[in-house]
Amino acid sequence: MQTILEPSAVQRLCESFRSGGKTIGFVPTMGFLHEGHLSLMRTARAESAVLVVSIFVNPTQFGQGEDFDSYPRDLRGDLIQIERVGGDLVFTPSVGVMYPEGFCSFVEVTELTDVLCGASRPGHFRGVATVVTKLFNLIRPHRAYFGQKDYQQSVVIRRLVADLNFDLKVVVLPTIREPDGLAMSSRNARLTPEQRRAALVLYRSLRHSEERVREGERNAKAICDEMRGMIEAEPLARIDYVALCDPETLKPIDWIEGCTLAALAVRFGSTRLIDNILISLP
Ligand code: PAF
Repeated sequence: MQTILEPSAVQRLCESFRSGGKTIGFVPTMGFLHEGHLSLMRTARAESAVLVVSIFVNPTQFGQGEDFDSYPRDLRGDLIQIERVGGDLVFTPSVGVMYPEGFCSFVEVTELTDVLCGASRPGHFRGVATVVTKLFNLIRPHRAYFGQKDYQQSVVIRRLVADLNFDLKVVVLPTIREPDGLAMSSRNARLTPEQRRAALVLYRSLRHSEERVREGERNAKAICDEMRGMIEAEPLARIDYVALCDPETLKPIDWIEGCTLAALAVRFGSTRLIDNILISLP
């Protein structure tokens, strides 16, 4: 397994894989890897000749006062895990090489980013779209793998890939959960034991929404109110948003008529967690 820090070197090597007829599976990450990342890597490994992983905590997707500085990092541990799943190449650039002096080009996906996390984290998806565009241009993967936990991100990236004619397939794989239901996230490491216990309300409220749809409830506001009630009953939780939306446009819905995205973002202390499920009609 090779670890490369220089964009030009990763570009040259990936170009040689491509011209040698090898398919490239790419898993972009911000490191501090967990089972969610590893499941993406295992699938990418099985579906591609070459597995490329990037580890880069991207400053442009963090707003002022967000957790860029305190975002958990463990490069050494991450490299061991990537080696174990059979990674071929790990790209670990510095902020300075990704955003050198004078950098002023950004990629913006509109509309899809006005809602949900985009509404509460202005500029976040501009940073994501920009870094993902740079990574796609450097690595030119045949397939790129993302987790459903970041549902809005996956919709934004699919749109970006279609709109800017990237020649690659976006693969979105299911959220991996802890045995008690908490969605795996690098940020879980920052929860206190009390917050970790309180955070179980997220998946519980999502499952409740699914249950209510199964029982025949179709009024989205009524279901959101019940979810909010459950979360607000947890003293350590502070709701950012709870929404039932169209899974393609991400627009909030009033009435449940087809497949629906139930999504939420909730803070526990300074840690903001997101989760979602797709609910299909019975
Ligand atoms: O999902 C993430 O970890 C990040 O948003 C990504 C896609 C690696 C871009 O920095």
